[in-house]
Amino acid sequence: MPRTPKIIRTLAALDRIIGPSRPRKTLALVPTMGALHAGHLALVRRARRRAQRVVVSIFVNPTQFAPHEDLGTYPRTFAADLQALAQENVDIVWAPSVEIMYPAGFSTAVVPEGPAKAGLEDAFRPHFFAGVATVVTKLFTQCRPDFAMFGEKDYQQLQVVTRMSQDLNLRVKVIGVPTAREKDGLALSSRNAYLSVAERATAPALFRSLTACAERIASREPIASVLADGRVAIAAAGFALDYLEARHAQTLQPITSAKDGPIRLLVAARLGKTRLIDNVSV
Ligand code: PAJ
Repeated sequence: MPRTPKIIRTLAALDRIIGPSRPRKTLALVPTMGALHAGHLALVRRARRRAQRVVVSIFVNPTQFAPHEDLGTYPRTFAADLQALAQENVDIVWAPSVEIMYPAGFSTAVVPEGPAKAGLEDAFRPHFFAGVATVVTKLFTQCRPDFAMFGEKDYQQLQVVTRMSQDLNLRVKVIGVPTAREKDGLALSSRNAYLSVAERATAPALFRSLTACAERIASREPIASVLADGRVAIAAAGFALDYLEARHAQTLQPITSAKDGPIRLLVAARLGKTRLIDNVSV
C-alpha cells in the first residue's frame, strides 16, 4: 500500500524527525525542484534500495536562476509530485519556503571552482553553480544524509557536488544515477514541457548526434574532427548550439586524445526558447 510521505516545512519539524537526537537509521536524500518525472523517480528508487529512510527535497531554488531565466514559470506540481513519491514509499518530503531557506539577512555562498569553472554550463549560466552549491550544502547540513542521489543528466552538476562534498568534508556519499530517457532517446527533463510539437519531434536528434560522436571517438577517430562534424549535424537539425565538448569524465578538463580519458561528451543547445542539455560516456 502506498503511504503518503510526511511533509515537512520547518527546520524544527525536520529536526524532530531526523535531527541529532533521533535513532540513527541510514538516510538517503534526493534533492529536486519538483515537477517530478521518471528521471527523478529513478533517483528515488536508487535511494530506497540504498538506505533505510528516504528524504526527497522539493525546493525551486531562486539563487540558481539568473534574472532572465524561468524561475517564475518553472513548473510547480506539488500534489502530483506527492502522489508519485507515495508510490515509491518515500518517508519524508522536505519542502521549505524561500523564507526558511534564505531568511532575511542571508549572506553566505558556497562558490565552487574546478569542475564548476570548466567553461560548460558555467559559461552560459555564470551564477548557476554557486546557487546549486549553496543550496545543496544547506540541504546536506539540514538533512545530514549518508547518501545523496544526483542524475548524470546534469553531469557537470554531479561532478561539482561530488567534489564539493569531498572538499568540505560534508560526509555525504554522492551517488550518480544514469539518465532516464524517452523511447526516442530524449533525456527526460521538466523543461521538455516547454517544447512545441515540432520541437519535440526534433529534440531526439541531440542524443543521436552525441551517440554517433561517442562511437566514432571510441573507434579512435580524431576528437577534433568528430566534434566538428557533430556541431554541424546539431545545427543542421535545427538547434542553436551552445557547446559540444569532449572532456575528462571527472575533472571536466578538455581532452585531445582518447588515451587521456575516461571521456564524457557534453552538449547544450537551444530549440526555440527551450535549452536542452545532455551527455554520454565514450
Ligand atoms: P532538478 O532539475 O529537479 O533535478 C533533480 C535531480 O534529478 C538532479 O540530480 C537531476 O540530475 C536529476 N534528473 C533530472 N532529469 C533526469 C533524468 N532524465 N535522468 C536521471 N536523473 C535526472 O538539479 C536540480 O533539480 C537542482 O539543481 C538541485 C540539485 C535540486 C539544486 O537546486
